[in-house]
Amino acid sequence: MTPLKAEEIRKMEAVGQLAAACLQYVGSFVKPGITTNELDKIAYDWTLSKGATPAPLGYHGFPKSICTSVNSCICHGVPDETILKNGDVINIDVTCIKEDFHGDTSAMFFVGNASDMAKKLTDCAFEAMHKGIEAITPNGTVGDIGFAINKHVTRKGYYPVKEIGGHGIGRIFHGDPFVPSYGKKGKGELLKPFTCITVEPMVNQTEVAIKELSIPGSSIKVYETGDGSLSAQFEHTVLITDSGYEILTQID
Ligand code: MF3
Ligand code: CO
Ligand code: CO
Repeated sequence: MTPLKAEEIRKMEAVGQLAAACLQYVGSFVKPGITTNELDKIAYDWTLSKGATPAPLGYHGFPKSICTSVNSCICHGVPDETILKNGDVINIDVTCIKEDFHGDTSAMFFVGNASDMAKKLTDCAFEAMHKGIEAITPNGTVGDIGFAINKHVTRKGYYPVKEIGGHGIGRIFHGDPFVPSYGKKGKGELLKPFTCITVEPMVNQTEVAIKELSIPGSSIKVYETGDGSLSAQFEHTVLITDSGYEILTQID
């Protein structure tokens, strides 16, 4: 992707903060008894009220405004009439478009009381995302990020998902480079100053092969663990600068 100009960076900062605020707002409604469709409607209404658009809606035929991935769902879960119950864990993934730019962020939320098992996995995914972000250097590589994520996840006894990962982002939702959750330091595509990427590791409890499910009318796939075990993910949109990086979807 081509480096952003100053006013384009300001738009990425603004949409990043908007997506982060949306995620925090929607997440505040997570409790036993709510459906994922209700969370979707909350996100849709909030986003439009801010003069923005939910990027997933209609994207390659995706039918909803957010992704809601519950328990063994790895990512791209489609909101439906599923009622969240005590002990569930859910990743909510929000992407907003404002003034032609995308901000993409996700986080895990606990429905009532989560098990220690779920909390540990969730902590690992959060830490892995930050380890990946901290490995960003201008003109470093995506391998630096993947190496840091993989190292942290495997040390904790978990498994990073290799098939899906982060991406370039800006005027387009998903662009180059692919940002894997494994890799070798110094290898892979360059991290160019004044471009944006997402860092979004997905962490599984087991090494079992993942399942890919179709969504009617869409080319987007839903991913689930192969054995019904849990998966956790966090995501930030990050600007690579000439001296380091700036997390655009973090609320201070
Ligand atoms: N927000 C997801 C990501 O992090 C992509 C969702 S695409 C959709 O890349 F179509 F499923 F919404
Ligand atoms: Co993303
Ligand atoms: Co996302």
